[in-house]
Amino acid sequence: MSRPVDAVIEYLEAESARGRTHIFLDDSARDTLRELFIKSRSKPKPTVEETLPAPAPPTPKKITELSVSGANKAEKLASIRQQAATWAPARDLGTLRETMVFATGNPEAEIMLIGEAPGYNEEKEKEPFVGPAGKKLNDILKAMGISREEVYISNLVKFRPALPRQTTNNRKPTAEEMAACLPLVKEEISIVKPKIIIALGGTAAEGLLGMEGTVGSMRGKWHEVSGTPTRVTYHPSYLLQSGGSTNVKRSLWEDMLAAMEKLGMPISEKQKSYFLPKK
Ligand code: URA
Repeated sequence: MSRPVDAVIEYLEAESARGRTHIFLDDSARDTLRELFIKSRSKPKPTVEETLPAPAPPTPKKITELSVSGANKAEKLASIRQQAATWAPARDLGTLRETMVFATGNPEAEIMLIGEAPGYNEEKEKEPFVGPAGKKLNDILKAMGISREEVYISNLVKFRPALPRQTTNNRKPTAEEMAACLPLVKEEISIVKPKIIIALGGTAAEGLLGMEGTVGSMRGKWHEVSGTPTRVTYHPSYLLQSGGSTNVKRSLWEDMLAAMEKLGMPISEKQKSYFLPKK
């Protein structure tokens, strides 16, 4: 863009080319030239486009309906995992933290274990059951003769429930939070098609089975979730909190024995006798 001062320079150069060495300037011409000089040194005015704020990055579209895609179980789960991150019924509650913790383990598993919600450790690792409760769960699986990698481990709620000024403290998910995430876990069940489900703890059991009650009142029998036999047992963290009560350990172990029996797994005499009083 040419500036007014350029026109003056052009004029002076043309006069100089004609051999003119002096130009008379009256006071007003001097003032005008001074003004033009000052203007030419200041920054050019930004264009309208430059004054507009930078466009915000596109916000990911919130998902309100799930659609499964993929050629096998792993791909189908990956498609649900991706949609879960912006699952509107959960995100719109505004009570759950940002980081999604989806599931871990074998998409072809016969056993699906479902807890309530991720905590501090799980959020950090983006994997369910990696804290002290997770280590206890690994021990339980080991006693059954299976590894963590063989089973599918998930949570009913896919985001850590939020608290004010939260550090390492966790809270249980509310019934509303569980209801919001239930379609996600139901989709996982219909993709994995486990032979059995084990609900870990009363909160997960209430959310999955849609009933209220203590673990004591719900365990010891088979329920059904999406047509899949479902056993309720104590949460591994309850085992840690209950000060190693043999009663709780034996009850949980009996639920695991029932699960093993249902799957036709071999059960040794030693396994049958875990946590029984010594004769
Ligand atoms: N408790 C749960 O219910 N889920 C986890 O992932 C960890 C602890």
